[in-house]
Amino acid sequence: MRTSYDRIRSEMVAHPKTWLITGVAGFIGSNLLETLLGLGQRVVGLDNFSTGHRENLDEVRSNVGAAVWQRFTFIEGDIRHLDDCRRAVQMADHVLHQAALGSVPRSLQDPLSTNEVNIGGFLNMLVAARDANVSSFTYAASSSTYGDHPDLPKTEDVIGRPLSPYAVTKYVNELYASVFARSYGLSAIGLRYFNVFGRRQDPSGAYAAVIPRWTAALINGEDVVINGDGESSRDFCYVDNAVQANLLAAFADAASRDRVYNVAVGERTTLNQLYADLRASLTHLGIALAETGPVHGPMRAGDIRHSLASVKKAEELLGYSQPITLSQGLAIAMPWYVQLFAKGGASGGSNEVALETPAGGR
Ligand SMILES: NC(=O)c1ccc[n+]([C@@H]2O[C@H](COP(=O)([O-])OP(=O)(O)OC[C@H]3O[C@@H](n4cnc5c(N)ncnc54)[C@H](O)[C@@H]3O)[C@@H](O)[C@H]2O)c1
Repeated sequence: MRTSYDRIRSEMVAHPKTWLITGVAGFIGSNLLETLLGLGQRVVGLDNFSTGHRENLDEVRSNVGAAVWQRFTFIEGDIRHLDDCRRAVQMADHVLHQAALGSVPRSLQDPLSTNEVNIGGFLNMLVAARDANVSSFTYAASSSTYGDHPDLPKTEDVIGRPLSPYAVTKYVNELYASVFARSYGLSAIGLRYFNVFGRRQDPSGAYAAVIPRWTAALINGEDVVINGDGESSRDFCYVDNAVQANLLAAFADAASRDRVYNVAVGERTTLNQLYADLRASLTHLGIALAETGPVHGPMRAGDIRHSLASVKKAEELLGYSQPITLSQGLAIAMPWYVQLFAKGGASGGSNEVALETPAGGR
């Protein structure tokens, strides 16, 4: 059956548009870029390389080829500067705003920078997009907005108290977006990503997410540290699901705008199961792994036990469908990590922070 996503992609190929991706050199941004260029779109990308990498852009260029790459314009700039935002947005029909400082632990370490980028930068982007009269504005929200609310599955209207400065910034984004809809008619869509994973997610550094961090540790023969007994669970979401949601959001009808949507699979996996799945995936690819099991550390303060999304609203209003599951996503992502480490591309770093998502997402 032809899905809404199939229809939108055909429509995009027939009538190419210009898209702005902020955070284009990052994990999700570079995956959006590759998909959009593959669909014949023109793309402007804005990034300051604070957590993103030129190598991500190089990889997209090599995947799409030199001719297609001509349709991409890169602006090295900072969303904290309104002029950079205005310059980036001026040609754009659609905005996919991904730039932010991710990671809960980073925000606990440095709440000021997280606030400046995630709230100040977000507001600059809203102002620039409003003044440029863009057709759509879609932004990366976060499952961290569910905070300490215990209910499962998470439905968009029921949230708890934020558990970190990062969660505050992502919630403030939602509040600003809805004020801009009411005050200026810029009706944005926020996508509350759950734990997104896939190729080009950074495995290095203190703030790496759980899947690339553990993958690096396993390949490098280092200990995998699980915070707690490993029975905590998360709704792990392959990056192509986030790409699907962004494209659907850009073409959502007026009644489906000025809203937030969960972006996930709707299935939860414990950390112990994730560890077993990663080992199986890598073994299947011929990687010889040490026989030692994971090391269990204390639960991290502020971590919630379980996270699981309802994706009903995205299915009903956006046409989100057939999300790629954890096992399907691992089968696509793991060969990429194996190649990366074979090339000596990343060191892996310390792997002590097993789960960086007190509220089930970054
Ligand atoms: N990955 C996840 O699981 C997850 C979950 C929930 C929400 N999110 C959100 O999705 C978005 C993308 O996350 P990601 O995982 O791709 O992270 P990432 O760190 O790989 O990408 C973020 C990009 O934004 C850029 N950036 C940061 N500050 C900037 C600034 N001041 N000006 C311009 N560019 C700047 C970085 O250099 C980087 O390329 C973020 O908004 C993040 O908060 C991610």
